[in-house]
Amino acid sequence: MTQPILELNNLTMKFGGVVALDTVNIKVMPQEILALIGPNGAGKTTVFNVITGVYQATSGDVLFEGKTLSGKTRHEITKGGVARTFQNIRLWGDMTALENVITATDVHKKSGLVGALFGLPRARREERENRARAHEILEFIGIDEYSDRLAKNLPYGVQRRLEIARAMGTTPRLILLDEPAAGFNPAEKVELANTIKKIRDAGYTVLLIEHDMSLIMGISDRVVVLDFGQKIADDLPSVVQNDSRVIEAYLGVPDDAS
Ligand SMILES: Nc1ncnc2c1ncn2[C@@H]1O[C@H](COP(=O)(O)OP(=O)(O)OP(=O)(O)O)[C@@H](O)[C@H]1O
Ligand SMILES: [Mg+2]
Repeated sequence: MTQPILELNNLTMKFGGVVALDTVNIKVMPQEILALIGPNGAGKTTVFNVITGVYQATSGDVLFEGKTLSGKTRHEITKGGVARTFQNIRLWGDMTALENVITATDVHKKSGLVGALFGLPRARREERENRARAHEILEFIGIDEYSDRLAKNLPYGVQRRLEIARAMGTTPRLILLDEPAAGFNPAEKVELANTIKKIRDAGYTVLLIEHDMSLIMGISDRVVVLDFGQKIADDLPSVVQNDSRVIEAYLGVPDDAS
């Protein structure tokens, strides 16, 4: 039987008195597109922050490919095969699009600083390879025409896509996307949905935080719903869409319901 690529086991994250995640259990299967949804403040981004080592869980554990991530640094987790994008775009504004992706490929760099400074053959070869790989990724995401432009001068939609390209630069097996379609118009959302499917079809596993229901319903294999840090649903999109607890979480309980 196939093993999950990622497992959250009884994951709890407290910030002072706030329980951002309350004994959450989630399994993500290889090459799945799993959507993580829930109202504002439900704990979605906190899930990403715990997986990627920004925070150490209060209790519980995260297993990636069967091994625990707890105690690992962000860098180790990235290098180990987990990449993410951020809810608020975080790019190197004064670097070109290409340089942003090359910088990501550097996590696997073998030649040290000395090699780079003296232009040793190994360092030069590595640089060439990383450059070619960065172009390939930009091409794959459909933004290679912007490769020489400074990130800060790129249109918003391209910046969002560049974040995904940069995440792919670290050669991950699991990609976490935090609201990649935020601020997109309907046409851009359709384009992004196609890109996410393409990423999965290329062999990656995708964990996707998103608010747009039509986008989620269109591409997710499964949907997990968080509400006040608790998992309240975990099922096929069509089932979750009609779940009364989920509808209640999103719409609130009507005043006259009591
Ligand atoms: N570093 C922190 N310190 C204190 N509280 C935090 C911290 N990070 C998150 N929280 C709290 O944890 C809860 C969950 O926040 P989180 O950002 O995970 O929500 P979210 O589901 O991503 O919401 P949104 O849809 O608005 O992005 C919130 O109550 C938030 O205020
Ligand atoms: Mg969030």
